[in-house]
Amino acid sequence: MRWNLPVSEMPTTWFNVVPHLSKPLEPPLHPGTRQPLGPEDLSPLFPMALIGQEVTTEPTVEIPGEVIDVLRLWRPTPLVRAVRLEKALGTPARIYFKDESVSPAGSHKPNTAVPQAFYNKAEGVARLTTETGAGQWGSALSFASAIYGLECMVYMVRASYEQKPYRRVLMETWGGRAVPSPVDDPSHPGSLGTAISDAVKDAASRADTHYSLGSVLNHVLLHQTIIGQEAQAQLARAGETRPDVVIGCCGGGSNLGGISLPFVPDGDVRLLAVEPASCPTLTAGKLEYDYGDAAGYAPLLLMYTLGHDFIPPSIHAGGLRYHGDAPIISNLVSTGRMEAVAYPQTKTFDAALTWARSQGTVPAPETGHAIRAVIDEALAAKEAGKEKVILFNYSGHGLLDLSAYDSYLQGELKD
Ligand SMILES: Cc1ncc(COP(=O)(O)O)c(C=O)c1O
Repeated sequence: MRWNLPVSEMPTTWFNVVPHLSKPLEPPLHPGTRQPLGPEDLSPLFPMALIGQEVTTEPTVEIPGEVIDVLRLWRPTPLVRAVRLEKALGTPARIYFKDESVSPAGSHKPNTAVPQAFYNKAEGVARLTTETGAGQWGSALSFASAIYGLECMVYMVRASYEQKPYRRVLMETWGGRAVPSPVDDPSHPGSLGTAISDAVKDAASRADTHYSLGSVLNHVLLHQTIIGQEAQAQLARAGETRPDVVIGCCGGGSNLGGISLPFVPDGDVRLLAVEPASCPTLTAGKLEYDYGDAAGYAPLLLMYTLGHDFIPPSIHAGGLRYHGDAPIISNLVSTGRMEAVAYPQTKTFDAALTWARSQGTVPAPETGHAIRAVIDEALAAKEAGKEKVILFNYSGHGLLDLSAYDSYLQGELKD
């Protein structure tokens, strides 16, 4: 069962959670002076429109018409009820998911890549640099750069660069260029932190270049709220008043924020972040100011962090290997508005297989984390003999992650 929104009902504004937070966000700090950052500190890296969105307290932000035109290539995405999974689990829970895997790059990432490329182009920037973990974000920004005629340079976490050659091919197909990071140490597996350092350093050294981040920052989560807003309209069409719980996997927090932030004002809706046990930022990190990157070039953010020099093990869900979390997600967890849980990777692949063998599609390993929690919530409902409405973000497909599935199927995957 699926609920499609007509294109004419696609949201025309992004939802800003900032006015709804019970505790105000703390400002980012300059990495050198540790003083609050001003717009002039960020302007070598970001266009003014995005700097404005980073700090806005307006309840909504208008989506430019030119951006809506591009998002319409695949949006609105379907809301689907996972009836076959419900049957396989024998649960009374009703499980709904937003299918973000239908985008050109196969994940939620183009939802922010498109507006980021648009605003940079509008302010005369010719070239973008970025980091990528699994390659999902790098391919999304390569796609968006192709749409707006920008050059795109992607620093890809070396472990993923070696595990996922087809993501590199995808980036090159859209005209982007990918190199393994860290660039100066070929023996280093890399992390999102090292790749951010490489990308920020490159952007800061060239006047024609800006930096683009695929997660973590307020404006990125803002762009992703189109997911949760569409889900609200679609759940109403499905006859549901509200979900009991909204679930998303959490790397930097963008797909989780995208689906869950519009539900923050409704205190009856539980929000659940799912992270890997090997990079347990929300469940075992400290809430403190830390650098956004490994080398300390990026601003300090108040977030749950394992330390900017933490190098997570090379788990296959490359997009979840970030040492910190979005300040907005950290804020929600610290105030108790959002819960967090961590799973070892074999349990998440086990869940991904249960999904593939009931629903048919092959989820990204990151998405497998969300599915693990969905299954556990559904089994808890079965145990309690209670109905429950579960909504989760199917953040991406795993058709370019088959080497990870191969390792799992061969019994080679370790926790
Ligand atoms: C499919 C997919 N899901 C989730 C994530 C995690 O990122 P975020 O927490 O920003 O949504 C990624 C990151 O690359 C991804 O590719």
